[in-house]
Amino acid sequence: MKKIPLLLMGCGGVGRQLLQHIVSCRSLHAKLGVRLRVVGVCDSKSLVVAPDVFTAELEDSLLLEVCKAKSSGASLDTLRNFGVCETFSSTDVIRKVTDIGGLLGRSTGLAFVDCSASSETVGVLSRVVDFGCCVVLANKKPLTSSMEDYDKLVAQHRRLRHESTVGAGLPVIASLNRIISSGDPVYRVIGSLSGTLGYVMTEVEDGKLFSQVVNAAKSLGYTEPDPRDDLGGMDVARKALILARLLGRRLNLESMKIESLYPAHMGPDVMPLDEFLKNGLPLLDKGIQERTEKASSNGNVLRYVCLIDDSRCEVGIQEVPKNSALGRLRGSDNVLEIYSRCYKEQPLVIQGAGAGNDTTAAGVLADILDIQDLFP
Ligand SMILES: NC(=O)c1ccc[n+]([C@@H]2O[C@H](COP(=O)([O-])OP(=O)(O)OC[C@H]3O[C@@H](n4cnc5c(N)ncnc54)[C@H](OP(=O)(O)O)[C@@H]3O)[C@@H](O)[C@H]2O)c1
Repeated sequence: MKKIPLLLMGCGGVGRQLLQHIVSCRSLHAKLGVRLRVVGVCDSKSLVVAPDVFTAELEDSLLLEVCKAKSSGASLDTLRNFGVCETFSSTDVIRKVTDIGGLLGRSTGLAFVDCSASSETVGVLSRVVDFGCCVVLANKKPLTSSMEDYDKLVAQHRRLRHESTVGAGLPVIASLNRIISSGDPVYRVIGSLSGTLGYVMTEVEDGKLFSQVVNAAKSLGYTEPDPRDDLGGMDVARKALILARLLGRRLNLESMKIESLYPAHMGPDVMPLDEFLKNGLPLLDKGIQERTEKASSNGNVLRYVCLIDDSRCEVGIQEVPKNSALGRLRGSDNVLEIYSRCYKEQPLVIQGAGAGNDTTAAGVLADILDIQDLFP
């Protein structure tokens, strides 16, 4: 049985779902000849770890208890009396996690799985790749900070997987990697990579008011607690940057054109959320409505897209042909059109759910299994 030791950073919706997938896939993985050995789990404050990371692992009952504790808002520290484990807190977490990377990276190629939403993990990840560790990311931030950090993480590209950073479980990164490695030049990528903004733009296309649609999306739980986190476009920009860098572009977030769907004077630092939802949003209706009508008169529809071609890497509202994969998009699906020499007139289209803990964690799990060849 091939054993892949892994350490999970981040135990929110995606991290917990990953632990549940790992436990529920035990017999499937056994048939594949693989065992995922979870040696540690940490969140922003604490680490729970097997006492001897060479020989022991966190038992499945403990992993499920981790999920239960984190779902109820309890600290990982509360698990110190449950099962066989050690716990560490605050500054000791980074030291201990890095030590484990040093110990297991050299001998077995430990997999570091980043399901946090933090920029702080990049420091640890940069260090443990030097120890020979593999890195699997759902977190976009390590790949969208400085070029220096990016170069460090991708230097050993066989040891890095990050499918879930763009389009959750959709095979976006794998498809692009296959196209790139076959020497087929990609000259244009355009996609709707935010389920929230996809939903908003298609509802607006149906004649509803922007403000009503955003409020409805918030009530349905499609948006972040503050919808400006979606409307600002930063999450889409990070996905665009990951794709652009994969295509060889040496760019930073700061050099990208990012259209925010609200003006600076309605930003979270200036306007309280309640006021934005009640008084700010309706002021944006007219502008969006005019743009929608103009697009329609051109036979087009509006989508909030990421667009990467030879000269551009930008995110914002664009007119797209109504009769294209992007134009036909309904609801919260993600759609990506890839144009290359082989996919010249008709693009390669990838479409499906691009968010959700289940599909995102499934993408992370598939990435972990994909690196098994690197383990003894
Ligand atoms: N959910 C989706 O549909 C989806 C889709 C694609 C990609 N993603 C990405 O997947 C990641 C996880 O998403 P999520 O929805 O699970 O987020 P989440 O619920 O906010 O959970 C984030 C977790 O990361 C932990 N964390 C924060 N800083 C940390 C640090 N320095 N070291 C270790 N852990 C740290 C948090 O700890 P505390 O519990 O202590 O706060 C929390 O457990 C994000 O990067 C997100 O962008 C999510």
